[in-house]
Amino acid sequence: MSNVPPPAQLAQLMFGFWASQAVYVAAKLDLAGLIKDGSKNADELAQATSTHAHSLYRLLRMLASLGVLAEDSASRFSLTAVGQCLRENVPGSQRALALMAGEEHYQSWGDLMYSIQTGLPAFDKLYGQPIFDWLSQHPEQAAIFDQAMVSVHGRETAAMLDAYDFKGIKTLADVGGGNGSLLMATLQRNPHLRGMLYDLPGVIERATPQFEAAGLTSRCRLISGSFFEAIPTGADAYLMRHIIHDWTDEQCLTILRHIHKAMPADGRLLVVESVIPPGNDPFFGKQLDLNMLVIPGGQERTAAEYEQLFAAAGFKLARIVPTTTEISIVEGVK
Ligand SMILES: C[S@@+](CC[C@H](N)C(=O)[O-])C[C@H]1O[C@@H](n2cnc3c(N)ncnc32)[C@H](O)[C@@H]1O
Repeated sequence: MSNVPPPAQLAQLMFGFWASQAVYVAAKLDLAGLIKDGSKNADELAQATSTHAHSLYRLLRMLASLGVLAEDSASRFSLTAVGQCLRENVPGSQRALALMAGEEHYQSWGDLMYSIQTGLPAFDKLYGQPIFDWLSQHPEQAAIFDQAMVSVHGRETAAMLDAYDFKGIKTLADVGGGNGSLLMATLQRNPHLRGMLYDLPGVIERATPQFEAAGLTSRCRLISGSFFEAIPTGADAYLMRHIIHDWTDEQCLTILRHIHKAMPADGRLLVVESVIPPGNDPFFGKQLDLNMLVIPGGQERTAAEYEQLFAAAGFKLARIVPTTTEISIVEGVK
């Protein structure tokens, strides 16, 4: 970007939403699914998606200029390596994330000003209730949310498992573990380990068939409930990936105190988040931080902020284990 003149750099930032909406519409129409087996022209795709052929052509051409699609000399479009990620049910699929980002997130970011003026989530103003309450009442979007978490955080899993040694742990609880993909991968990599997946009832219901299909039900308990009410006992390590960043300090303290109560004296608390570094270098966590303000009303935190939060809930921050991705494992002990 440094060779681009400053006014043009700013314009690129301003019109980021053009690209994000173009990707969203492509995801919603499932264009990637329609051309996965071979290139198609705009007329064929318009027929399959009930859209206006010439306008669809212009969308396809724009996506080709952005490297998502490729147009050949006969005006037929195929998927690039980036476009492949818009397919459903492929490793690294980003389709669910594109759907979520283009709908609830796009709408809420449209009122970023409200969040900056009030410190409150624009999502709640627009949708009339906090995100996780809303998702509990909207199963279709909730299933997309579960998959979107794999889209956005899935590639962190291997890095996390490479960086952290689970050998000394007998039972690992994944609190707010979503569809369980992280816990399943951890159990598969560590055959000695038993697991406990804890999340809201609808989420546990959707996760159950996946544990059955993976043959992991005998090694793992799936428990539904709210971490604001209680945390189940029986684990010696309590892991939360991208949970603490969803909530205010006060709400985090409630969750952490419940874990403190449930955890044995020699247990471990593993908080997996993007720990905000000092300095101006690009860091996705600094953008995710603002998303946490706009959508759930939470925030990303610095190491010092984690230390304070842990101490207020009765934990000592033992160490921060970095990974090859932006996330770290912030380890707490009683
Ligand atoms: C940002 S997602 C993270 C999911 C998963 N840990 C990951 O890393 O992909 C937040 C998770 O917290 C769960 N959650 C939200 N409120 C909850 C509550 N009160 N009790 C338990 N889980 C909750 C959501 O259902 C969702 O699965």
